[in-house]
Amino acid sequence: MLHRTIENGTALAPDLVVEQVSVSAGKTRIVQDLSFHAKAGEVLAIIGPSGSGKTTLMKAMTGELPYSGGITLAGLEVGGLSPEVLAAMRGVLPQASQISFPLNVAEVVGLGLTSSRRERTFRARRIAEALAKVGLSGFEGRSYQELSGGEQQRVQLARVLCQVWDPLPQEGLPHWLFLDEPVSSLDIKHQVQIMQLAADYAKRGGGVVAVMHDLNLTAAFADQVLVMQGGRRLAFGARDEVMQAELLSKAYDFPLEILTRPGGRRPVIVPMDNG
Ligand SMILES: Nc1ncnc2c1ncn2[C@@H]1O[C@H](COP(=O)(O)OP(=O)(O)O)[C@@H](O)[C@H]1O
Ligand SMILES: [Mg+2]
Repeated sequence: MLHRTIENGTALAPDLVVEQVSVSAGKTRIVQDLSFHAKAGEVLAIIGPSGSGKTTLMKAMTGELPYSGGITLAGLEVGGLSPEVLAAMRGVLPQASQISFPLNVAEVVGLGLTSSRRERTFRARRIAEALAKVGLSGFEGRSYQELSGGEQQRVQLARVLCQVWDPLPQEGLPHWLFLDEPVSSLDIKHQVQIMQLAADYAKRGGGVVAVMHDLNLTAAFADQVLVMQGGRRLAFGARDEVMQAELLSKAYDFPLEILTRPGGRRPVIVPMDNG
C-alpha cells in the first residue's frame, strides 16, 4: 500500500524539506518560520540550548504535532500522511519514552515489527540482531522497567531499527531515523557506538536527523548542523562551517573555544577558561 502511495506521488526527492515552518502550543509560538533541508545519506544534527524548540521541531517533522508551512519527506507532506505510511517511512526515538505496563525487552523491540512480520523465527532473529547492534545481546527476557535509563534508551533504539531496518530498501525510498537526544543517557563508549551506528545508517543510504546535546559528538558525527535559538534558525550548514567558536558561543550564550589537537585529530569544543 505504501509503495502504491509513493508511486502515485510526483516529483519525488529523497530529501527532507522544511520550509517556513512554525509550531505553536496553545497561544505560544514555539518554532518560528524555520527552513532547512536534509539529504538521505547524511547525518543532520540539530543543536541549541534547552528550550530552543528542538523537540518541538522534531515532533512536527515526525508528524506528531501540527505545523504551518511545509515539511516534506520524499516529496510527501508529512502532515497529510497516515500513521501507517509514516511508520513505513521513518522511525522515531523520542526524547523520553515511558512504558507503563510490564513488558520484557523482546516485546518492546518487537513493537517495531509490523504485523505482517509475525513469523516467529523471523521476529526472534530480527530482535536479536537489533539488540546486538545496540550492544544488548541476550537482553530479550529482561524486564524493560528494571533496566537502567541508558539501557532503556538503547532498547528503544533497537525498536526503531526493527521498524526501518534497511536504510535504503531495494525497491523503495530511503528510510529516515529521527532521534531526539539518542545518547543523552549513555556512557561515553555507548555514546560513540550509537553515533557510529547512526552514521553507518546514513552511509548506507538512510536519512538521519538527531537532536544533539554534546557538541563534540556533533562535531565528530554530523555532516550538516542546524543551530536553533529561541525557536528560530540561528545557523544551518556543513559541519565545519557551523561548528565555530563564535557562532556556538552566541548560540549557547556562553563563551566556548575550540582547541586544536596535534596529528590532524579533530578539534574539541570546551568552555572558555576564564580562570
Ligand atoms: N505543549 C507545550 N505547551 C507550552 N509550551 C511548550 C510545550 N511544549 C514545549 N513548550 C515550550 O517550548 C519551548 C521549547 O521546548 P522544546 O521543543 O522541548 O525545546 P528543546 O527540545 O530545544 O529543549 C520550551 O520553552 C518549552 O517549555
Ligand atoms: Mg528536547
